[in-house]
Amino acid sequence: MASTSIAILGTGTYSPEKVLSNDELSLSVDTSDEWIVTRTGIRERRIAAGTETTADMAASAAADAIANAGISASDIDLVILATLTPDLPMPATACLVQQKLGIPEKAACFDLNAACTGFLYALDTAWAMLESGRYRHALVVGAEKLSTMLDWNDRATCVLFGDAAGAVVMGASRNSHSGILGSRLATIPLSPDLLWVPGGGSSPATPEEPRVIRMKGKEVFKVAVRAMEDIAREILEQHQVTADQIACVIPHQANLRIIEAISHYLKLPMDRFFVNVDRYGNTSSASIPLALHEAHQEGRIRPGDLVLLVAFGAGLTYGGALVRW
Ligand code: UT7
Repeated sequence: MASTSIAILGTGTYSPEKVLSNDELSLSVDTSDEWIVTRTGIRERRIAAGTETTADMAASAAADAIANAGISASDIDLVILATLTPDLPMPATACLVQQKLGIPEKAACFDLNAACTGFLYALDTAWAMLESGRYRHALVVGAEKLSTMLDWNDRATCVLFGDAAGAVVMGASRNSHSGILGSRLATIPLSPDLLWVPGGGSSPATPEEPRVIRMKGKEVFKVAVRAMEDIAREILEQHQVTADQIACVIPHQANLRIIEAISHYLKLPMDRFFVNVDRYGNTSSASIPLALHEAHQEGRIRPGDLVLLVAFGAGLTYGGALVRW
């Protein structure tokens, strides 16, 4: 097993005040609470206020994680922020969070985009940088204001996503057992149009190629299940852990049926999977840290537990991490 010296020392979250229920959504788009709940498990999602940015949400979640870790902002020397909805093309949203929280100028700050797998890409990167011994405390954040990137007339996508942020502080483990045991990242080079934002980057947004999320849901669903099952098996095998030794799986929260399918294929009962997609929908890179924090707060994760994190997203990126809490 890999070194257990780098651990998650604290977690935090932020979710906007405004709750948008399925019933409210069905007043403006041709859908129903029944369809959304049956096909996705989502009951409501949070929507950020007009003036509230990804950096605002990220900073709130990060402040929570820093307090939870029992350190102060001045102890942070690395900020990695996963997002596909940065405040600006530049500077990186991580730099805005640095300023908001008073993180010292010695800190390295950058954003990373691996879509819904972004948080696990950031966690893996932070782990490697901390293990190098050149950084002491990393703030790893997933934050999204996806409501700005939705076509509110497209019922196939607008019902699925929400806004939120989640964060962890990582650093040297404070005991002999806890730590990141393993991490694996991957990308399946399928056609980008399975899940993408067709315009608004270096190709400008046009009516034909707008800056909104488009998805071929059925195809993505199948690949997502296969990818997350594969990565979970690979990590478990590599670390000689059996599925039933996992106390809690924190899967990317995109669709309850995807999580149920993984539970079925891994032969691991649903009560080992943490689910909050019903309350937030898919918050992309915020999804895993948000779920991890809530699972911990609810006592679903205890010291010494093995926790498996798995995610997939546009790219199609996917990844997994094994953590001893
Ligand atoms: O983080 C990665 C993000 N992506 C995902 O994880 C998404 C993966 N995919 C999915 O979760 C599912 O494929 C969806 C939830 C997106 C769709 O569920 P589905 O069971 O695959 O439905 P479908 O796309 O095959 O659509 C079935 C029907 C269609 O009507 P017809 O053609 O059968 O008449 C759709 O037009 O449901 C219709 N439909 C809706 N009806 C009411 C699609 N969206 C809606 C809606 N409300 N919101």
